Amino acid sequence: MHDMTLSSSPGGTDEEIILAIKNLRVSFGTEEHPVVILDDINLAVRRGETLGIVGESGCGKSMLSLAVMGLVPPPGRTTGVIGFGGANLLAHSPARMRAVRGNKIGMVFQEPMTSLNPLLRVGFQIVEAMRVHDRASSNQTLKKRAIAAMEQVRIPAAAQRFDEYPHQLSGGMRQRIAIAMVIACEPDILIADEPTTALDVTVQAEILDLLRELQRKNHMAIILITHDLGVVAQMADNVAVMYAGQLIEYTACRALFDDPRHPYTLGLLGSIPRMEEEETRLLAIEGVVPPAAQMPAGCRFHPRCVFMEQDCAHRRPLLASQRDAHLTACFHIPLSGELP
Ligand SMILES: Nc1ncnc2c1ncn2[C@@H]1O[C@H](COP(=O)(O)OP(=O)(O)OP(=O)(O)O)[C@@H](O)[C@H]1O
Ligand SMILES: [Mg+2]
Repeated sequence: MHDMTLSSSPGGTDEEIILAIKNLRVSFGTEEHPVVILDDINLAVRRGETLGIVGESGCGKSMLSLAVMGLVPPPGRTTGVIGFGGANLLAHSPARMRAVRGNKIGMVFQEPMTSLNPLLRVGFQIVEAMRVHDRASSNQTLKKRAIAAMEQVRIPAAAQRFDEYPHQLSGGMRQRIAIAMVIACEPDILIADEPTTALDVTVQAEILDLLRELQRKNHMAIILITHDLGVVAQMADNVAVMYAGQLIEYTACRALFDDPRHPYTLGLLGSIPRMEEEETRLLAIEGVVPPAAQMPAGCRFHPRCVFMEQDCAHRRPLLASQRDAHLTACFHIPLSGELP
């Protein structure tokens, strides 16, 4: 096997790694009959890197981001290691985790109103987000910083907008406010879960541009969760492909598009729509993601896999590579161009 450890990040050196996830597992259900939602996830993110996470609905993308934020809903159990800032986040007390959340690791959701309170002025909400981690600065100082953050996310007439309510803003502007709330706290990592899915195409492109610009300026890592492979191709340095709670391919973005190896990834790529279509939905693979309580034995993808062979139903393929830093969990990686 290639000597890259599993929780390394493809490309670059390990010294720059700021987030290292090892053997992460999230389960619901009972101890005797656990329903495993995330199964043995290993990955890492470097400072300033964008990691794209893709996979069909229900694969566990959002659960992964919740696990990193320490927000897995009860009675979910999280085990493994989420290494950040020299410590394991899973060992943090709730209070210590609150200090990381929002401050060192920020999150933006698909629907900006998830982060915004409809009853409060947007500027006040940015100030409050900063106040959680900054008791010392005066209100005036925080207001200045909030307006600066609004300018950074390119909200026109930021000082006037400071006093508006969320409903007075467009969807795109609301998402900018949600991003401003996060970057005002200068996080090392921004987790964006489908940040542009609810927006129309032009606004989508503007928000992605903005994220790239903020990343360059602040040298912040981005974990970008999306259904849209077009977005991944534009934004990501590395890509992790998830299927049914597991990582099944993990490599540099370029390598994923030039040399996709897992049959599932091949299926996803086959679903990239033509230019004139507005939305990328991953519909090209027959069948659906199995429910977490009824995972097939062996490779979880085998019932849907056109390259499936007998052993696939019995043995679980581990994420590995024979020759390079391109990791794939499949026993029978198809040769390029091979048809079943
Ligand atoms: N609170 C919960 N309790 C139990 N199971 C849950 C809970 N929340 C989510 N799940 C299950 O976890 C799995 C992964 O869900 P998750 O929301 O992470 O998927 P996703 O990849 O983000 O999908 P989408 O693309 O639709 O957002 C699903 O099978 C879902 O039913
Ligand atoms: Mg989700």
